[in-house]
Amino acid sequence: MLHTPVALERCIALLAPAISEKDSPIVIDATLGMGGHSAALLSQFPRLRIIGFDRDLAAIAIARASLAQFSDRITIVHAVYDEMEEVLVNESISGVDGILFDLGVSSMQLDQADRGFAYSQEAPLDMRMDQSSGITAFEVLMEYPKGELIRVIRNYGEEKFAKNIAENIIKARQSDSLHTTKDLAELVKNSIPAAARRTGGNPAKRTFQALRIEVNHELDVLERAIPAALSSLNVGGRIVVMAYQSLEDKIVKSFFTRVTLSGTPRGLPIELPGSAAKFNFVIRGSESATEDEIEANPRASSMRLRAIERVAA
Ligand SMILES: C[S@@+](CC[C@H](N)C(=O)[O-])C[C@H]1O[C@@H](n2cnc3c(N)ncnc32)[C@H](O)[C@@H]1O
Repeated sequence: MLHTPVALERCIALLAPAISEKDSPIVIDATLGMGGHSAALLSQFPRLRIIGFDRDLAAIAIARASLAQFSDRITIVHAVYDEMEEVLVNESISGVDGILFDLGVSSMQLDQADRGFAYSQEAPLDMRMDQSSGITAFEVLMEYPKGELIRVIRNYGEEKFAKNIAENIIKARQSDSLHTTKDLAELVKNSIPAAARRTGGNPAKRTFQALRIEVNHELDVLERAIPAALSSLNVGGRIVVMAYQSLEDKIVKSFFTRVTLSGTPRGLPIELPGSAAKFNFVIRGSESATEDEIEANPRASSMRLRAIERVAA
């Protein structure tokens, strides 16, 4: 195994009640990555079938190899996970029992320096999870008007100094001095007042996050995928989501809160007919990784885990 899947035992325990009693359960692994969670689920539940998505062809190739022994029970799809409803129709599947989202980039993507995700490694500014389509971070940096750059860096990076950074990006275009991840990390550092650089880790982290979200439309895709996941779930089915940054976690929290609310006005002694919520929380609020896991895998420290179950059609 190339890496350790995050919160593996906990994800299996959360999905198990939706899978273990069924004759032919189906789970969607929306973010297959290297297939760590899928491999564990397929070995634990011998009748389980998985539909696994990844938008990254390199991840698909690794998952295909690492899951070869389960090839009769897994369908691997190169697609963005907001396409799940169309894929289920193509596969003649009317509903699924579990859906797992392990959001963001994988350790493989971060480790492959040439992908441009890591500010600590010299690389071209690509940042596309799917290198077969879409615009690169370099194109965003070279082509977006200043106002758009400010919007992206401020909204998706939650960066206070977005204006300074955007102005320096425009200057760097003129001097042709912005080509690589290291150039960008240096530009961001020089755009931030020295006092503000002393806290909060590497200042490039926020701008890199912002560009990655923009290049991959990460938030828009998640906004479409969660409702698609909710409507693809059978009664008794569960959705488990791991988010690693607050903007994604907020989207998940907001959908989960909305669909677990009853339509009966507060204060009425009985539930009005037809107004009961179709989903219940499996985890109230969110969970974090354990301290032991964070020590072994620091990436797990920002993880927030949420889970809900469909209780009515
Ligand atoms: C954190 S990794 C998943 C790791 C996986 N659970 C494992 O155990 O190996 C996230 C994966 O999801 C993929 N991904 C991220 N956003 C996606 C999206 N919108 N559609 C499809 N795949 C996506 C990434 O390419 C990456 O391979």
